[in-house]
Amino acid sequence: MAQKIKWGVLGGGGDSLIGVLHRVAASMFDAYELLGAVFNPDIEKSMEYAKELGIKTDRIHPNFETMIMAELALPQQERIQVFSILTPNFLHFPMAKKLLESGFHVICEKPMTMSYAEALELQVIQKSTGAIFALTHTYTGYPMVRQMKSMIAQGELGDIQKIDAQYYQGWINPIIHDVNMRKTTWRLDPEKSGISCCMGDIGVHAYQMIEYVTGMEISSILADLNHLYNDNQMDIDGTVLLRFGAFSKGVLRVSQIATGEENNFSVAVYGTKCALKWEQENPNYLYLLEEGKPMQTLKPGHAYNSALSLDGTKLPPGHPEGIFDAMGNIYRGVAKAIRGLNYLEGEFPEMTDGVRGMNFIEKVIESHDKGNIWIKLINN
Ligand SMILES: NC(=O)c1ccc[n+]([C@@H]2O[C@H](COP(=O)([O-])OP(=O)(O)OC[C@H]3O[C@@H](n4cnc5c(N)ncnc54)[C@H](O)[C@@H]3O)[C@@H](O)[C@H]2O)c1
Repeated sequence: MAQKIKWGVLGGGGDSLIGVLHRVAASMFDAYELLGAVFNPDIEKSMEYAKELGIKTDRIHPNFETMIMAELALPQQERIQVFSILTPNFLHFPMAKKLLESGFHVICEKPMTMSYAEALELQVIQKSTGAIFALTHTYTGYPMVRQMKSMIAQGELGDIQKIDAQYYQGWINPIIHDVNMRKTTWRLDPEKSGISCCMGDIGVHAYQMIEYVTGMEISSILADLNHLYNDNQMDIDGTVLLRFGAFSKGVLRVSQIATGEENNFSVAVYGTKCALKWEQENPNYLYLLEEGKPMQTLKPGHAYNSALSLDGTKLPPGHPEGIFDAMGNIYRGVAKAIRGLNYLEGEFPEMTDGVRGMNFIEKVIESHDKGNIWIKLINN
């Protein structure tokens, strides 16, 4: 039996949204063993949470610096191999930098860093160490998103002429209209979140999804954002026009004030021959649209699915899988990479996705601030 990968976690405590998703994902294919953590900036809370999870407390530390030092003092074969960074955004860069420089593999939440400059710096460090770096754009782990990617790569849609991605949430609506709440939510604090709230938090998922499924690079953008209040600097809604090539265009519509919306993320790609549409709240269905034919619904686990899609399907058709499975598929791909096994292109988002994502966020803000002008993205 293969030895489990020794795993550590930074952030993702009992008070977090995303921690449980990563822990379930890591346990899904029995590849990882959680050995240590800084779940919380308060060591007492970290200890309590470790006990709650049934993890030994001897590798729970007050901060990531002491944790890394303690791990480096252990013999190599006992040392944690990979850390997941599940903290608010401002900690991703210092944590990832120190981890990579110290020889650890990294699984990092998005947005990768606070700025494009930091992203480039991290890329240089990762290249020099050769460590595995995965960025958890969770939605790329869904089998039908992978199916969409494979079908487009096979040319089944023909030439791509229109792309429409929508990511609508409503959770900031009650927060933004309450002056105290809008001043105390970390995603609305540029010190903790970065220069963008909506585009940095969910717009970047939509951006990455478009490039992931189409295999095309967005060349330029024009953004129109909304802040709603003068005392709030951060975008909470926005529309971005996209250009790929001369005749290939699209739109990215993102909001956190789309009242009543939950996690309404969808992507539609229209080609010269047919189109594909996928919706996150109904992730096991991929809709195939063709001129003059009834719409077809493709589902996971069938012989017609691609190798990449089937790789992300654990059960026979008709057993719906969801977001935990999607993240589990990403962790599975990372485990293959850490173990030196072959893995398919697209099994997990990598450093380039993070670098391109940070460039996108910065250029969207620049486009809006300069009066909604077209801006070229940098090609990494
Ligand atoms: N991939 C996705 O779909 C997805 C979804 C939600 C959130 N995220 C990302 O995950 C990250 C965390 O988001 P969240 O919603 O879970 O945030 P959260 O505020 O719910 O949780 C943050 C966690 O980090 C801990 N933390 C804060 N400072 C710390 C420090 N100095 N050291 C160690 N731990 C610390 C907190 O105690 C908490 O447990 C963000 O970067 C966010 O963008 C990604």
